[in-house]
Amino acid sequence: MLSLPSLFQAGALVLSFAASLSQGASTDVVGTWSTGSGAVLTGTAFGNPVNNTFDYPPVAGYSYSFTEDGWYEEASFTWTSNATDHHCIQANIIWQHGTYKVNANGTITTDSTMFAGDGRVQVQNACAAQSSAIYYYQENNLFATWAVSTWRGKTMLRLGSYDGSLLPRMYKISDTPRDYMFDSLYLSNHTDSSTTRRR
Ligand SMILES: *[C@@H]1O[C@H](CO)[C@@H](O)[C@H](O)[C@H]1NC(C)=O
Ligand SMILES: *[C@@H]1O[C@H](CO)[C@@H](O)[C@H](O)[C@H]1NC(C)=O
Ligand SMILES: *[C@@H]1O[C@H](CO)[C@@H](O)[C@H](O)[C@H]1NC(C)=O
Ligand SMILES: *[C@@H]1O[C@H](CO)[C@@H](O)[C@H](O)[C@H]1NC(C)=O
Repeated sequence: MLSLPSLFQAGALVLSFAASLSQGASTDVVGTWSTGSGAVLTGTAFGNPVNNTFDYPPVAGYSYSFTEDGWYEEASFTWTSNATDHHCIQANIIWQHGTYKVNANGTITTDSTMFAGDGRVQVQNACAAQSSAIYYYQENNLFATWAVSTWRGKTMLRLGSYDGSLLPRMYKISDTPRDYMFDSLYLSNHTDSSTTRRR
């Protein structure tokens, strides 16, 4: 476990949002989804955004959870290798949550602006002056297509990017959406909703 308790430790807030979000959800996508063997999962297994401790999963992948009443959570772990120096691998952890909608035109939109202070990206780069850093992260997404189907005996969710490309398959891990917390704002009192460095 990588622990960065010195960052963001002050001012943890838990504010509940009592919003009713029943419109625009779809029971087809409700549950917990993950790529590959399910090494990357939303929820507490991924870490604790309140004190910025994220567990690095054994393999790269991403995970989404969607609730029936319109909340979602997202977790991803990716590697980027450096073409110039193959030892300089960069690892990225992303976590955010918010609301989602299955739109009438066949798209899915996710919106994390209401929890803009919560999202995190943690970057580890063995060759950077600062080998590990954590930043605010908030990004809304538009998935141009989505399809739930059966693939090799598993229930699969295939999301399509706005540019037409298909994202790696996710399989249903559980009918129960797994979250750290869907409908609460945890953390900071900051006004900049873009990805911002804070040290
Ligand atoms: C972060 O919080 C979790 C849950 O409260 C706790 O188990 C863990 O020990 C904490 N880690 C640090 C470094 O404070
Ligand atoms: C890639 O490696 C080179 C040489 O070590 C380094 O100068 C550069 O910053 C690295 N790029 C990234 C994106 O880490
Ligand atoms: C589909 O609807 C969503 C939500 O209204 C909108 O953001 C998106 O631009 C629409 N996409 C197309 C291709 O019409
Ligand atoms: C957030 O920051 C604003 C401006 O500094 C301040 O007025 C407000 O009291 C803060 N809210 C909390 C919950 O700390």
